[in-house]
Amino acid sequence: MEKIAVKEEWRQRALITAEEYQAWYRRSVEDPDGFWAEHGKRIDWMKPFTKVKNTSFAPDVSIKWFEDGTLNVSANCIDRHLEERGDAVAILWEGDNPAESRKITYRELHENVCRMANVLKSRGVKRGDRVTIYMPMIPESAFAMLACARIGAIHSVVFGGFSPDSLANRIEDARSSVLITADEGLRGGRKVPLKKNADKAIEIAGKAGQKVETVLMIRRTGGDVGFAEGRDLWWHEARETVEATCAPEEMGAEDPLFILYTSGSTGKPKGVLHTSGGYLVWASITHHYIFDYRPGEIYWCAADIGWVTGHTYILYGPLANGATTVMFEGIPNYPDASRLWQVVDKHKVNIIYMAPTAIRALMGAGDSFVTSTSRESLRQLGTVGEPINPEAWLWYYRVVGDERCPIVDTYWQTETGGTLITPLPGVTDLKPGSATLPFFGVQPQLVDSEGTVLEGATSGNLCIVDSWPGQMRTVYGDHERFVQTYFSTYKGKYFTGDGCRRDEDGYYWITGRVDDVINVSGHRMGTAEVESALVSHPAVAEAAVVGYPHDLKGQGIYCYVTLLDGEEPTDELKKSLIAHVREEIGPIASPDKIQFAPGLPKTRSGKIMRRILRKIAEDDFGALGDTSTLADPTVVEDLVEHRQNRR
Ligand code: WTA
Repeated sequence: MEKIAVKEEWRQRALITAEEYQAWYRRSVEDPDGFWAEHGKRIDWMKPFTKVKNTSFAPDVSIKWFEDGTLNVSANCIDRHLEERGDAVAILWEGDNPAESRKITYRELHENVCRMANVLKSRGVKRGDRVTIYMPMIPESAFAMLACARIGAIHSVVFGGFSPDSLANRIEDARSSVLITADEGLRGGRKVPLKKNADKAIEIAGKAGQKVETVLMIRRTGGDVGFAEGRDLWWHEARETVEATCAPEEMGAEDPLFILYTSGSTGKPKGVLHTSGGYLVWASITHHYIFDYRPGEIYWCAADIGWVTGHTYILYGPLANGATTVMFEGIPNYPDASRLWQVVDKHKVNIIYMAPTAIRALMGAGDSFVTSTSRESLRQLGTVGEPINPEAWLWYYRVVGDERCPIVDTYWQTETGGTLITPLPGVTDLKPGSATLPFFGVQPQLVDSEGTVLEGATSGNLCIVDSWPGQMRTVYGDHERFVQTYFSTYKGKYFTGDGCRRDEDGYYWITGRVDDVINVSGHRMGTAEVESALVSHPAVAEAAVVGYPHDLKGQGIYCYVTLLDGEEPTDELKKSLIAHVREEIGPIASPDKIQFAPGLPKTRSGKIMRRILRKIAEDDFGALGDTSTLADPTVVEDLVEHRQNRR
């Protein structure tokens, strides 16, 4: 594979040299206390910490950073910039409609966040309370998150594309009695019925015993939505009734900042809990060095605030660093496939960070959508969320970046708070498809399935052997699940769930999940969640779901469905199943392929052999391996004969 060496122009503007990277990295793992004592000071503390690292992965799992320090995250993201940059733009909002944009300065951000904090307080919200946020991509989403941080409430953002059921589950699990939402969202010219969904979710949660007492509503489209007297209130009205300042609450470094639900191999989505001090240090330092951010630059992370990428790299990292962060309400192909690059030209964007799935889709639309724009303001590109194939990487590099801009392929997870493995621009030589080398303080290790540590150029399961400040602290309300999920497969190590190759230069190449998690267009999903949605359909007896390679989405969702006796396997029923899954989880979980299967391959003890199902879904049934342990080997023939994915 070709290597793209650091160019002289990149090296000249880099924050550190390649030698410094080596030296800093070495110190960060040999003397983490010293390294992080120094870098922990990049944020403002109300009471400085005296302890730095206090972490253990075994026998007990306990993770604390900067534990005796106190701070307020919103003050770090807003107040401390007011003197120097009060009139600089904090949030540069680009609407779904190309004619709409808004600029929110740090001073305006301060006022809005304080007012929203005061509105929440007026409804009795206090430290430690959980506030659910179900919002479109509008600046008020940022106000809401920062308002929570200001008063010490814990936000739980639920992606606006999730269904009422998914929202209800998250409200229940977080035991949240406050919801912030909007009348409707707007994406690609289409309305998203947020308040309507929220009303349904509140009803479902209510039946399960979780009452929502306050709904703060933002008016976005002006659409006609219900209003529950005593429970609902409009932001544009409430904001006028409260004061424009609100003192930031003094929080402990280990006080929770937010919960964000994410999918795993088993069970319902887990509430990943991040705390205040370590998370903010990690968000800020990674944003600074990975994007080589300089004051005054326009930085755009084209993710949704409902995912961790939006939390860390639209909101907390950039604002902690006093950046101008772009927030985009729309989608890359509306009004046409030129939109992102038009926005780049309109706002003179310097740095853009996006998902490989969008890059592949835009690559498919043709180069002219890109080359018809200037993009001369761009100096750096980034990707996140899934492995990027070298072809898409090279297209991004050549066509979008005109071979001028280094690409940072950043590997990380909801659980890790921020990036773990990434090149640093002007420092690291690039290889298309590789996330390259670990960030400061991150110690990757590859192990085989028995847990034996593998050295040198090899492939294995990716673990991280010691803690870093941005690491999640627990699963909300279920520490045992945290320990079981991440630290029990390989005792004493954090297991990422990803497979990975390390090459002769020590570069890491993430190969994708090795557990029952699939990554569809950069959205993470548990196959078990889709299965449970399918079996809740009245015609279904049993279902097994696997991922399969998909040109645009990275992975597609392939469902094997066994019907109840008497049900007819028709195309109509397929449609009904797809609609049902969308309804249960949300459109992002739409099945791509459904195969009606009279039986599923099971061992004699009744365990579904997913390895076989994956192979058939990949259209690679020549390599099914040993099927002799199956209870009924003939089911495999039927599955192969009726497979839905033929390459
Ligand atoms: C995958 C998103 C390859 C990986 C920040 C991980 C990646 C999962 C990359 C986490 C990358 C993320 N290269 N794979 N640069 N970035 N992944 O929690 O499988 O939504 O475990 O966090 O995405 O997804 P999550």
